[in-house]
Amino acid sequence: MASNRTSIHGQWSSKWVFILAVTGSAVGLGNIWRFPYATADNGGGAFVLVYLVCVALVGLPIMMAEIMLGRRGRQSPINTMKTLAEDERQSRHWYLLGVMGVFAGFIILTFYSIVAGWTVAYVFQAMSGVFIGADAQQTQDLFGDLVSDPKRLLLWHTVFMSMTIFVISRGVRSGLEQAVRYLMPALFFLLVVLVVYSMSTPGFSEAMSFLFKPDFSQIEPSTILVALGHAFFTLSLGMGALMTYGSYLSDRTSIPTTSVAIAVMDTGAALLAGMAIFPIMFTYGLQPEEGGPGLIFKILPIAFGQMPYGRGLGVMFFVLLMLAAWTSAISLLEPVTAWLVEKKGYTRIRAAMSAGFVAWVLGIGSLLSLNLWSGAKLFGLTFFELVEYLSVNVLLPVGGLLMAVFAGWLMSKSSSLDELKSGRIGYMAWKVGAMYIAPAGVIIILLHNAFGLWGS
Ligand code: PHE
Repeated sequence: MASNRTSIHGQWSSKWVFILAVTGSAVGLGNIWRFPYATADNGGGAFVLVYLVCVALVGLPIMMAEIMLGRRGRQSPINTMKTLAEDERQSRHWYLLGVMGVFAGFIILTFYSIVAGWTVAYVFQAMSGVFIGADAQQTQDLFGDLVSDPKRLLLWHTVFMSMTIFVISRGVRSGLEQAVRYLMPALFFLLVVLVVYSMSTPGFSEAMSFLFKPDFSQIEPSTILVALGHAFFTLSLGMGALMTYGSYLSDRTSIPTTSVAIAVMDTGAALLAGMAIFPIMFTYGLQPEEGGPGLIFKILPIAFGQMPYGRGLGVMFFVLLMLAAWTSAISLLEPVTAWLVEKKGYTRIRAAMSAGFVAWVLGIGSLLSLNLWSGAKLFGLTFFELVEYLSVNVLLPVGGLLMAVFAGWLMSKSSSLDELKSGRIGYMAWKVGAMYIAPAGVIIILLHNAFGLWGS
């Protein structure tokens, strides 16, 4: 039996809007900025393979679990977990899972906005024509100039955070639907154009082996954890974004079908980005390790500076990337906002502004760690790196693990069967994934990493 609850924050007008919104959340900087640089940092093909396995075996069952919990609870992650724990007669402490998720999303937003700010800055760079004919040294210098200038970073961080607050104060639905419907296909199209260009460069075959020929000697415990964390990050899993979006989903939609479609699109976007970027990197003799978080900002401008119509295409690309980041950032701010509305009775505008403001202030810490505070390190990591590491590689996997445990082990069969809306085989497959494969995967990787690190 359906739970009969409705969300006070509204409902998606159709299943398609939900798919678009979740795709908007999933496809973002994770695919185009983070996937290439994490791949470069972690030795290439072996990392890609582990990431793909994590998406299929761990990510998918958890994605279904998260959306299912959201739709059943129909509130912000914190109140959803509170209500579901009551329904299923479980400990009331499960609401803490919601708290952790809302916190993780909020922390991710603080550095996400900084990187999204780079994309806004690059729209203007592309327009100005500085990329035309630029060589690898010049594009690296352009990026270096940007990140070493706190005032410029602050400007773009502020612009991007305000854009995010603006959409959230008006409600997720207005605007988002139109944005995602046309912009996502346009972004895919531009990625394909870039891949076609990259195929004509001499570095293409080297890049393909780097991406798709796993060299297992490159794998360390930390590589596997980073691949797992990235699978969560790129699918927007483990922090309640999908739980919140699921809470606005109608009772009739099949969760497995939509989840598979979303995971395929998201993975496709990442692989296209890799195929566009690495050939250019090898062609210009850059080493993967040299890229760091600035990888795509150093590499893609070289291509735009060389190819026909490169100036226009460059502007379009960074505009689309900025919009993709925007539709993801929205899903990072929505859970906290929904919670402030429920808990404190704030208006949406007030809730979005207060949460967005605090995220903006914390973001300044990450911003300064790129320049003035770059020497300040804890465990060898700057503030930016530490926040990114903890939220992506620890909070998201732990959050996802607990969601799988709740949905797979603690929820009654009648509730989960009723929510999933799939056939028997689909249900069984999900159940095995959520009860055994996904939790075992996360636990083994986390423990392996902890001991691997302690042992070294
Ligand atoms: N999935 C988004 C991306 O790939 C980032 C994100 C993570 C959004 C977690 C929401 C929740 O850019």
